[in-house]
Amino acid sequence: MLLVSPETTPSTGGPPARLAVLASGSGSNFEAICSASLAGDLPAQVVGLVYNNPGAFVAERAARLGVEAVLVDHRDFGSRDAFDAAVVGALQTFEPDWIAMAGWMRIATSTLLEAFPDRIVNIHPSLLPSFRGLHAVEQAFAAGVRITGCTVHVVRAVVDDGPIIAQAAVPVFADDSLESLTERIHAAEHLLYPRALALAIAAARR
Ligand code: GRF
Repeated sequence: MLLVSPETTPSTGGPPARLAVLASGSGSNFEAICSASLAGDLPAQVVGLVYNNPGAFVAERAARLGVEAVLVDHRDFGSRDAFDAAVVGALQTFEPDWIAMAGWMRIATSTLLEAFPDRIVNIHPSLLPSFRGLHAVEQAFAAGVRITGCTVHVVRAVVDDGPIIAQAAVPVFADDSLESLTERIHAAEHLLYPRALALAIAAARR
């Protein structure tokens, strides 16, 4: 993996940042962030998880890792804003400094973005601005690119837009399948996300 942004994890002074995670599915990135935090590789403590799909595997990971998890099911709300207001309420109970979207499959409204300005980050499985939106790995595979990757960025109102914090480049090999490429990108994400969070936390403290 080639990190396009600075390759080292910056050291930061002060107490660990309070980090909450938003996730909808498996949560492998959630677990990678928790592992980096526990290993002392990320100057942040994962203080809580909000997830929106009952039965999502990320909830099992949270239970195993001892992270408090709150379910806010979007199906219980009549609008995106009402859902996001409940998400904001759940997040606020954790008093987070930062929020990491890790496979959060909901579009963020201004209700969420304005509650935590410039403090919500996301990971996307492509080298943005290429291949925004759903099925980004499939899009890159179908386009025949030889290099793809993943991006961590600050969340803005436009989906998969916003200032880029860090990227990792991932090669596409001639004999790759969609599955093997997806697996390689996931592995890169698990390294990149904690490092990108460390960069963002350090930059905000300067
Ligand atoms: C990741 O590929 C991430 O880039 C995208 O959703 C996927 C989540 O995977 N936003 P996981 O739930 O962290 O395993």
